[in-house]
Formats: sequence, C-alpha cells, structure tokens
Amino acid sequence: MTACDQSSSALERASELCKEFGERASFRKVDLLQWEEEESYDFAFSFGVVHHTGNTYGAIRNVGRKVKQGGKLFLMVYGFPETLQDFVELNSYEEMRERLRLLSCEEKKRALIEQFGEHEAHGWFDAVSPRINDLLTFPELAGLLTRLGFRGIRRTMNNRNHHLIAEKS
Ligand SMILES: C[S@@+](CC[C@H](N)C(=O)[O-])C[C@H]1O[C@@H](n2cnc3c(N)ncnc32)[C@H](O)[C@@H]1O
Repeated sequence: MTACDQSSSALERASELCKEFGERASFRKVDLLQWEEEESYDFAFSFGVVHHTGNTYGAIRNVGRKVKQGGKLFLMVYGFPETLQDFVELNSYEEMRERLRLLSCEEKKRALIEQFGEHEAHGWFDAVSPRINDLLTFPELAGLLTRLGFRGIRRTMNNRNHHLIAEKS
C-alpha cells in the first residue's frame, strides 16, 4: 500500500495510523498533478482530493493512470447541491469561511474547537479551509472516466458528493 499526499504532516499522521502494517505500507510526498512515475496498482483510492487541486480533470487522469488493467478505482468528488438540505449545508460553510477568513490556521482551529468541540471541529476545518472546491456532475465524471478506459462506473452512495467505483477494462 502506498499512501500519497503533498502534505508532509498528513503523511506523518497516516504513517502513525498505519504502523501495524509495517513495511507493507509506504508513504510518498507527491504533487498529484506532476505525478509521472509509471508504477500501477490493483486499486487506487482517492477521497476528497482531486477537486482541491485546481485541475480536477488532470488529477483524475493521474489517479486513473495508477490503476492496472482490470484494477479498480474509488473516487470521492464533490457534487453540486440538489436538496434544500444541501444548500443549507453549503451556505453554513460559506458563512463560517467568511467569519474565519482573517484568522491564522491555529486561531481558526481554536475557534472551531471552541464552537463545535474537538470531534466536530475536524470536519468543519476540513470543510471551510480549502480555497479551491470544484463541483462536478455525475455525467461529466462518467464521461471523463470512460475516456480514461474505465467501465462499470457507478455511484455507491446516494449523496450530494460522488462516491464512485469503476473498473479499468
Ligand atoms: C480534504 S483533504 C483529504 C485528505 C484525505 N484523503 C482524507 O480523506 O482524509 C485534501 C487533501 O488533498 C491534498 N492535496 C491537495 N492538492 C494536492 C496535490 N496537487 N497533490 C497531492 N495532494 C494534494 C491536501 O494536502 C489534503 O491532504
């Protein structure tokens, strides 16, 4: 298992959490948009990353390239709001972003912990911090993955966001 991210602290945390897997797990600092190496895997799993890169299609193409012929891909990509509840949720993130925009990272963390507690603050921090949050439709994602050689593309959850699985044929 190879875990990749551009953030050293994210990789350190992942490495702590995967200690029990010993040398079967490795950790690599990579920019997904510049990831040219040829190695490929039976399964690639990318959760909540490609839509933050500034080049969502390029990032999906590079993750897709890592999947072997006959292998599988899982992607979580932001979708557009559809229900009233979706709009309320996105609006609350916008309001929070606006409220916290002048704070440093540490101050933002403290303010969120104070308001929501340790457990909930993590999700809020994650939701309001990235400056790039591209939204995609299922048809455009399915079209892109088909062009990249994937088949059996399906959503695994009924949610605003796309939790997709696909197979490289
Ligand atoms: C919302 S977090 C998701 C992290 C993790 N996948 C998870 O589910 O907890 C987004 C992650 O995307 C990473 N990221 C953003 N742009 C990237 C890029 N160009 N190359 C590699 N990682 C990137 C960030 O460093 C961050 O760790």
